[in-house]
Amino acid sequence: MKGVILAGGLGTRLQPLTLVTNKHLLPVYDRPMIYYPIQTLLDAGIDDVLIVTGGEHAGDFLKLLGNGHKLGLAHLEYAYQQGEGGIADALKLAEDFADGGPIAVALGDNIIEGTIAGAVNAYREQGSGAKVLLKRVPDPHRFGVARFEGEGDAKRIVEIIEKPEDPPSDYAVTGFYLYDKQVFDICRTLKPSGRGELEITDVNNWYLERGELTHDTLEGWWTDAGTIPSLYRATRLLAHKDGAADPQELSEIDAAPGAGGSA
Ligand code: DAU
Repeated sequence: MKGVILAGGLGTRLQPLTLVTNKHLLPVYDRPMIYYPIQTLLDAGIDDVLIVTGGEHAGDFLKLLGNGHKLGLAHLEYAYQQGEGGIADALKLAEDFADGGPIAVALGDNIIEGTIAGAVNAYREQGSGAKVLLKRVPDPHRFGVARFEGEGDAKRIVEIIEKPEDPPSDYAVTGFYLYDKQVFDICRTLKPSGRGELEITDVNNWYLERGELTHDTLEGWWTDAGTIPSLYRATRLLAHKDGAADPQELSEIDAAPGAGGSA
């Protein structure tokens, strides 16, 4: 399976840090942010990758990553997103790269402790449709959130709501998605949301309405790094993973209000 990392957008929530560089090139603990989603895909056995980026500093990705071989990628391509039309707008640029096959999509600012390998393997067996990865969080209003119906084995997602004021659960939809080739036809039908973007949540709800969306839950911590608190939190979590910080701090970081992460 091929992988797509979405690393466009203007990173306005991280200004002034993003005035002179792309958000995904900022340091998170001991390496640039973009290294983490690349490693997540590599750990799942995906080494043929497209990075979609944009803005004035897109050329710096080439300087940093080159052909990707040093990081272990077999093949690395780049695409340029004009403007900031949303995650699903960036994904449109992956159609030729996907070449009719399934894709694993990672948001460039999503960092995990563990692996998505199990979900990728399960999706390979699923064969078609889509799969999302969920994580319980203390601040679901910051994310796409799953609404469930039923109990026990009958429990299923009936809707995903983007940044709900009144979250129906504390299960966030993380920035890791598995799609079949239908995703590009779906992206073409989308209309901009209230924030003027083509929303990945609308794509996921399309699959959901047709009974073609499955989900797994991520093990270990998960964070985005797109705001100052979450960027700071990501650095601290990675320091813990590396054994370079006081282990007793970990529960305190996890519970930090407004900082995203695993509950
Ligand atoms: O982090 C998970 C969340 O990511 C999900 O729970 C939400 O459903 C999803 O909409 C998204 O929410 P955010 O509002 O946090 O997304 P953000 O605008 O920060 O974009 C996340 C990444 O997507 C960003 O690091 C780069 C990529 N992106 C974003 C936009 C708006 C693009 O490549 N192009 C874009 O135009």
